[in-house]
Formats: sequence, structure tokens, C-alpha cells
Amino acid sequence: MALGAQIPDEGFVLLLSDRPAERRALARAIGLVAACRAAGSGDGLPPGRPRLAVLDLDTSALAAADAALDRAVPRLVLARGPGGPAAPSPTARILPPNAPRETVLAGIIAMLESVALAERTRARALAARGGAATALVAELFDSAALGARIDPAEIERGTEIVVEAVAEAGIRDWLHTVWRHDAGVYQHTLSVAGFAAAFGAVLGLGGADHRRFARAALLHDIGKSRIPAEILNKPGRLTPEEWRLMQRHPAIGADLLEEQGGTEPEVIAAVRHHHERLDGAGYPDGLAGAAIADLTRLVAICDVYSALTERRAYRAPIAPLAALAQMAGERGHLDPALLAAFRPVALAHAG
Ligand SMILES: [Fe+2]
Ligand SMILES: [Fe+2]
Repeated sequence: MALGAQIPDEGFVLLLSDRPAERRALARAIGLVAACRAAGSGDGLPPGRPRLAVLDLDTSALAAADAALDRAVPRLVLARGPGGPAAPSPTARILPPNAPRETVLAGIIAMLESVALAERTRARALAARGGAATALVAELFDSAALGARIDPAEIERGTEIVVEAVAEAGIRDWLHTVWRHDAGVYQHTLSVAGFAAAFGAVLGLGGADHRRFARAALLHDIGKSRIPAEILNKPGRLTPEEWRLMQRHPAIGADLLEEQGGTEPEVIAAVRHHHERLDGAGYPDGLAGAAIADLTRLVAICDVYSALTERRAYRAPIAPLAALAQMAGERGHLDPALLAAFRPVALAHAG
């Protein structure tokens, strides 16, 4: 029996109890302090990720529920049966059998408070990373705009921040953090780098390949640092002349990385060719098919997907799976096999 269909998928307390009367009473009491979804042992888990699970089950049902739940979800276990709980997760708190209901509720409230505290701490750490990454990208773009050397150590630091933040917090929370700062091209840069970090993990890329992918994404639009802001941020359509200038950003970015040295040729190629299309209709060089390297294809997918799902002054963002469908529908642009492999990233983005 799942209660409260109107409750959102996140932030609820999951109550699994195979004692119907106790389940009803506990669900009512929990409902006074938090959204609660209750189910019996044979009902399966309700959808969504709970903030806390309360398990009031006999030993065998407890073991099954414990295995089915995400390891990171804290549990409050009401010990039952002679064997007690079957090796529950380290985030579990065990209450003795027949603990009074007030004790159970006090335990739930205490655990919800510590979950909220941990969430706030994580959110603060993520916000700090988002701020640091934005400042870093701003510095990279400023250096590039002024014709100064882009510090490879800073590129590396930016790559690390994005890869680690996406690994820990997930792509959704990373985007949420990045988009709190209002700075167009930097947000796009950090979003594309975030998608690259998430996509690299989905593809199972090893450390150096994963970092290279994220780094190429972080640098892909560095040439925009030399495009006038009024063109970059123009809300309406670009004139043909402005569009010609805009289309120079991939070559500008690749040239400036090439000139200063120290960037891998694959990364420079990805910067130069991220607007090429498999059918040869892209720019700046009109490359087609096999001439477009894998790293470039990967960056192009993250770039197009990010652009479609971003808020823009002149249009609403496109929803994750609709953006993916739109990309798949446009034949001749992106690599279809890699696009299919991107789907888990879009699903994680959709939440
Ligand atoms: Fe671009
Ligand atoms: Fe881009």
C-alpha cells in the first residue's frame, strides 16, 4: 500500500512494515513531521529515493529490503525475531524490539536532522566548488581574451574540480550549482565539462582518458573569449557578418592553444572541430565521417546536448529526453552509437 500519491519522489521517509496496524499508526505519526510512503514487505519499493528508510520487518524480509535499498540511504531498523537484523548497512540505527512508538519517532526525527545537516554540508561544499570553477573558467577566458598564456595548471585544476564534483554530487546537482552563477559562456563551459565528466564515467573511460575528455570540454569554446560580448550575448538572430565571426571561435581557440603549447593534439582537434558534422556540413573545415576523431565526437554530443537543455534569453530549455530525441532525429550531425551511449547521462540529468 503506497500512501500519498501527491508526494514528490524525493525527500520522503520510506516506511516498510509487515504489521499493517503498526504501519498505519507509524505512517500517520511520521506524516506529521515528514512526507511518508508506506508499504508492506510484499509490495516492492515505491519509486524515488527516500531520505530515510524505517524498516519494521521480520528477518528474511529485512535482508531483502536492505539489499534492495540504495546503500547510501540511512535506515532505522526495528529489530525483530531472534536473529535480529541481517547485517544492515553502516548507516543503520537499530532500535530494540517493541521500542515504544515515541522512541521510534524520536529516532526518526534525530536521523532526519542529521540527514539534513549532511545535505547542507554537501551543498555548501558543492557551491564552493561551483564558485571556484566559475572563477577559474573566468580567468582562463580573461587570459585568452588578453592574449596571455592560459596556465595549464589552472586547466588541470578546473578539470579536477568538475570531474570530482560530478562524481560525488551527480550531473543534476552540478548543473544546478553552475547555473546559480549568472555568466553565460562560463556556465555553458562548466555544463559541457560536467556532461563530459558524467559521460566519461558512463563510458568507463580510465583516469587519463576521462580527464582528457573533461579537459577538452572545458576548453572547447575558449575561442569565444575573442568574440565580442555583444555578439556572444545577442538575444536575437545574428547578422550574416556576426555569424561569420562567431563561426571563427573553434579555430581561434585551437590556434591559441596550439601557439602556447602544452595541450595534447587530440584536445586541440576537439576544440577546432567540435562544430563539424559527420555529413560534412559543419565548420570550420567541413570534415566528414572518419576524419572526425572520437574525442571530438564525444565533445560535440556534450556541447549540443548542453546548448539545447540550457536556459537562454530567447527560449526555454528543452527537457533532457526531448533534447536527446531531437539530436537523434537530426541525421548526419552526431555519432548515433555514441549518442545512444549518452542516454544514461540524460536520464541522470532528468532525475
Ligand atoms: Fe562552440
Ligand atoms: Fe559550446
